[in-house]
Amino acid sequence: MKVLITKPIPAIGIELIRNAGHEVTITPEDKVLSAAELIQQSGEHDAILCVGGYALDSAFLKACQHLKVIALFSVGFNNVDIEAATQYHIPVGNTPDVLSNATADTAFTLMLAVSRKAFYMHKQILKGEWKDFHATTNLGIELTNKTLGVFGLGRIGLELAKRCKGAYNMNVIYHNRSTNKDAEHLVGARLVTFETLLAESDVLSVHAGLSDETKGKFNKDAFSKMKQSAIFINTARGALHNEEDLTKALQNGIIWGAGLDVTNPEPMTPDNPLLQMPSVAVLPHIGSSTVEARNGMAKFAAENIIAGLAGKKLPHLVNESIYTHVEK
Ligand code: DGY
Repeated sequence: MKVLITKPIPAIGIELIRNAGHEVTITPEDKVLSAAELIQQSGEHDAILCVGGYALDSAFLKACQHLKVIALFSVGFNNVDIEAATQYHIPVGNTPDVLSNATADTAFTLMLAVSRKAFYMHKQILKGEWKDFHATTNLGIELTNKTLGVFGLGRIGLELAKRCKGAYNMNVIYHNRSTNKDAEHLVGARLVTFETLLAESDVLSVHAGLSDETKGKFNKDAFSKMKQSAIFINTARGALHNEEDLTKALQNGIIWGAGLDVTNPEPMTPDNPLLQMPSVAVLPHIGSSTVEARNGMAKFAAENIIAGLAGKKLPHLVNESIYTHVEK
């Protein structure tokens, strides 16, 4: 059968699909398909392995009902209309777990970089501003014994919590719909209300998926309830925070700093005021970009493709309800 891969992925994934007897078409790295091109090309294939943030919305899914499987090269699946995919009986797979270490490391890096204004200081050197010793300016904040608040404590949040506990003996609180027993056992995490999470976190790190419920959750109102000394970290999805409200909160000293691997919108433009702020660090959505994570993602995505084309349940399935879905 024929598989469309919308950008090159590590060889391990391509080999697995080819070794299973399928034909692979790979869109070149620098080519971004228009919505019409994606529909047209998907029409010539039995499955797509979707790399990048292509919107697989209801129009796409209606036009591509023939697809036997959609394998995402991501853990996040907010770019897919899952309800429509389920309605058309298309299984959708993602890549959980394999990128948890890499993404937690990214959040940890941002936390540390913000706490010591590291990105800003680096820029000062480039501008020739490394002059004499200052005793009272450009001071950072220490993390030892501080409180880490996690919004959406799952696999990635737990990895971050373990790092924060081990390195800085941080107290861990979290806000979830349900308790995370592993996190409570491993790092002594405490489930709290959203209001308590805002009020008590010294570092508040976001690890929830993007949904109608979580979109824009970190807005003016939320920032106003956080500590003035707080650091906000987002490595999940940019739309979880309101970027204008975040910018104002930082400009007005409502919160102290922010570390972002995801922005709203993406990509961030170079003239964004956040990039000039001392206690802000921004990365270009590189949470999962390690050799280990990307190889793992390629393998998981390939396994999803192979299972879907064989008519089997995907090993990393997003829309479980595909098996219980009944036509209305
Ligand atoms: C993910 O896997 O969801 C990463 O953010 C890449 O999109």
